[in-house]
Amino acid sequence: MLLKIKNHYIPELIAYFTGRPRPFSVSFNITPDCNQSCIYCEIGNKIERNTDRLLNQEDINWVIDEMANAEIKRLAINGGEPFLFKSLLETVSYAGSKNIVCAITSNGMTIHRLSPTEIAVLKENRSEVNISVDSLDNSINSFTRGSKLALENAKKSAKTLMDAGIPVTFLSAISKYNYQDLYSSLVKAYELGVGQVLYQPLIFYSNYPDRKAIIDKANLNVAYEDIDILKAELRKILKFERTHKIKTNVYRFLPWIENYIKMTSGISKTWFWEGYLKKFYCRDIHALIDIAYDGGIQPCAFAKAEINIKDDRSQGLIALWIKASESIKNDLNNGKYRGYCNACSNHFSRNMIASLMKYPFKNRSALIKFLLLMTSRAIHSMYKKLFVR
Ligand SMILES: C[S@@+](CC[C@H](N)C(=O)[O-])C[C@H]1O[C@@H](n2cnc3c(N)ncnc32)[C@H](O)[C@@H]1O
Repeated sequence: MLLKIKNHYIPELIAYFTGRPRPFSVSFNITPDCNQSCIYCEIGNKIERNTDRLLNQEDINWVIDEMANAEIKRLAINGGEPFLFKSLLETVSYAGSKNIVCAITSNGMTIHRLSPTEIAVLKENRSEVNISVDSLDNSINSFTRGSKLALENAKKSAKTLMDAGIPVTFLSAISKYNYQDLYSSLVKAYELGVGQVLYQPLIFYSNYPDRKAIIDKANLNVAYEDIDILKAELRKILKFERTHKIKTNVYRFLPWIENYIKMTSGISKTWFWEGYLKKFYCRDIHALIDIAYDGGIQPCAFAKAEINIKDDRSQGLIALWIKASESIKNDLNNGKYRGYCNACSNHFSRNMIASLMKYPFKNRSALIKFLLLMTSRAIHSMYKKLFVR
């Protein structure tokens, strides 16, 4: 924990006031291929992509070299399904050789089939693995993930990783199909030995800006009339988390989920954070370099890339990214938000905390509520450390 405070929280806090010397991490959508058909994903819905270009190992190694030069220590690997990318483990090794840790988000369909030597590559390079599981109820999970074997494979993969000492986080997208089952699934995840479950309400914008969004995607979210049921479910999770060795991010999104659902239900037409924050600050456009599967540098995960690492890259990654994100940074600094800012439910908790730190006075009422929440969480986590086995 002390190391996390020193290496992460303190530099993060300083960055809000003095600016960021370098981005915190790079994120790749390493492949557009996938072996599931999630109902809320454009790839799963077979919506055509608008590009023929694809990243190759040389592009990836160049990015890793650039990260090492800039002392960026974290590479998030997403997709598509990363384990369908044939040189994923080479990528992990190469990054590891430069002291860069990979955080891989997978559906867990194939990890359990990796050989012990391949699992050792993940372990030796300190990889973190997130496995996407929307529900521990097989019928719900099969439906949302579009695969009958999704849960069985995810469980087998989680076990393979945990047996090798690799910590596993489950990621659950909250939709109208699983919101009443979240608590029961958390208890089952705990029984499996999973250390963390991170939830995220559905993004209604296209996950991949080169593809059209799924029609009526917002409607897959929980309906506003069911918000009390959802909130009751989330409170049960918070209570469970206080006395069991499992962590979630519920405390972070409880402050804003109702506003988000109000907006996705069409009841509110404003920026969903306005009910909570007086002034918004987007941390991620300053802290993240997002690279699409075609090599495009996206100013944010929802924004189309205008600059590609496959074209002239003589200026280096950081200079290309600064150019790619210049216009959105200017707009957001002047309070000119883009339509997709309202879809930012995946990174919003981080951006919310950044907004509170960057503009503590303007956001004082939200800050006080958040500090009370954090104090209560700190007390409970101390209790857990001392008394919960
Ligand atoms: C796009 S997937 C790609 C990586 C991998 N194939 C997997 O399933 O984890 C990354 C994560 O985004 C989540 N996701 C996809 N579409 C989403 C949406 N519309 N809203 C919220 N989360 C979504 C998935 O559930 C998964 O946890």
